[in-house]
Amino acid sequence: MAITLFVRGLINSSIRMNDTGVFTKPGPHQYPHQWNWDSALIALGLSHFDLPRALTEIRALLSGQWQDGMLPHVVYHQTPSDYFPDPAFWQIENSPNAPRFSTSGITQPPLLATIVRRLHARQPILEFVEEIYPSLLEWHRWLHTARDADGSGLVCIIHPWESGTDDSPRWLELLAAIQPETVPEFQRGDTRYVPALERPHRAEYERFIHLIDVFRKLGYVPADLLVHSPFLVQDVLFNSILFCADEDLRALALLLNQPTDAIDVWLSRMRSSFDARFWNDQMGLYYDYDLRSERSIQVNTITTFLPLFAGVASNAQAERLINSHLTNPSEYASQDGIWYGVTTTARTEPTWESRRYWRGPVWIITNWLVLEGLQRYGYDDLADRIRQDTLHLVEVSGFREYYDARDGSGCGSENFSWSAALTLELLMAPPNAENK
Ligand code: DGY
Repeated sequence: MAITLFVRGLINSSIRMNDTGVFTKPGPHQYPHQWNWDSALIALGLSHFDLPRALTEIRALLSGQWQDGMLPHVVYHQTPSDYFPDPAFWQIENSPNAPRFSTSGITQPPLLATIVRRLHARQPILEFVEEIYPSLLEWHRWLHTARDADGSGLVCIIHPWESGTDDSPRWLELLAAIQPETVPEFQRGDTRYVPALERPHRAEYERFIHLIDVFRKLGYVPADLLVHSPFLVQDVLFNSILFCADEDLRALALLLNQPTDAIDVWLSRMRSSFDARFWNDQMGLYYDYDLRSERSIQVNTITTFLPLFAGVASNAQAERLINSHLTNPSEYASQDGIWYGVTTTARTEPTWESRRYWRGPVWIITNWLVLEGLQRYGYDDLADRIRQDTLHLVEVSGFREYYDARDGSGCGSENFSWSAALTLELLMAPPNAENK
C-alpha cells in the first residue's frame, strides 16, 4: 500500500507535471524542451503506467531526426521558453540534412533501442517496433559512419554535451586547450534557476558555445566536423551505450525478420577495438581517448563502470573495477558506509566537487546504469545496495537532477523527470528481473 501511494505520488509530482502531452520536459524550468536520452528514460518510466503515452514520447523524439539519420540531442517542438541556446542559435538551416522541426545540431548517448527492446519484452508492441525500426537503424548507421573518425569501429563525440556528462572533469584539459579567438555573444540561461556553483564554470561554458559556433559555420557537414572540430573524443560511456543498443537493435531486427549483417559488423568492430583503446591495465580502469592529441584521458570517473552495463568487460576486468575502485572508500564508496549512490567522479581526482553538475554529485541515471551492470555480472548484493540507497535518496531529497555526494541533499533542477522515471523503474522492475 505504501509503495502504491508512493508510486502515485511520483507520477503526479514529476513526470505528469512536466508532460506537455507530446513530449516531457526533463525539468520544468531548466530544461523546457525534449532531450534525447532523457526522453528514452522517461518513456521507460511512462511505460509502467501509460504505455501509449510512452510511445508518443518516442515518436515525438524521432520527429526531430535529421535526413541523414542523426537524432539530435534537443528537439524544440516550437515551445516558447527562456532556455539558451534557443532554436535559432543553432542555425541548423545551414545544413542540407536539417529536419522540418527546430532541433539542436548535435546528438546524445543512444539509449533508445535498448529502451524500445525493454518495452517490447514487457508488453508486446510489435507494430510500434515495425514503425520505428527504420529510424533507429538509420540513427545507428549514421553513428557508425558519420562518427567513425579513425576506422576503428568506435564512434566519437564532438561536443561535451554529446557525452551526456557535459561538465565532466574528463573534458577540462581538452577544453582548456581550445583557445577561441571569438565567442559569439550569448546570455547564459542555465544559472537562472540553479545556483552557479552547481553549474559549469564560465570558461567551460564559453567553449561549449564556441564549439556550436564552429559547427554551424561548417553547416554541420559530418565529414567536415570530423576534420575541424577542436573537440574529438572516443567516449567510454557513449560507446558502451551504443554497443548495448546495437545488440538490442539486432534483437529487434530478428524480431522483424530483418537482416542483421550491418549490425553484426558494427558489433564485431567495436568489440575488437574496445579494450585496446579504452582499457588501462595498469590502473584497472577504462579511460576515454582524445583523438586530437592522440592520448588517453586519464581521469577516473563513473563512466569507467559503463562497460559493465554493456557487457563488454571480462569477469576479471569487472572484478578489478568493482573491488579496486567502486567499493574503494577513497574513490567511489563513502567512508562512513553511507553511499547515497555512486559519486560521478572518484574522490581522488583533484577536480572532484560535491555539488557541481558532473564533477562529483550522485545522479539517479548513473546509479541505475551502474547497478544494471553489476547485475549483469552477478554482483546482486551490491546492485541491491545501490538500488536501496537510490530509493532512500529520492525519499529524502525528492526527484532532483543530481545530489550532493557528501550528504545527499538535492542539486540542479527540481522535479527532474528521469529521476522520477527511473525511480519507478527501480520500484516496478525488481532487481534481477529479466530485462531482455
Ligand atoms: C544544458 O543546457 O546544460 C544542457 O545540458 C545541454 O544539453
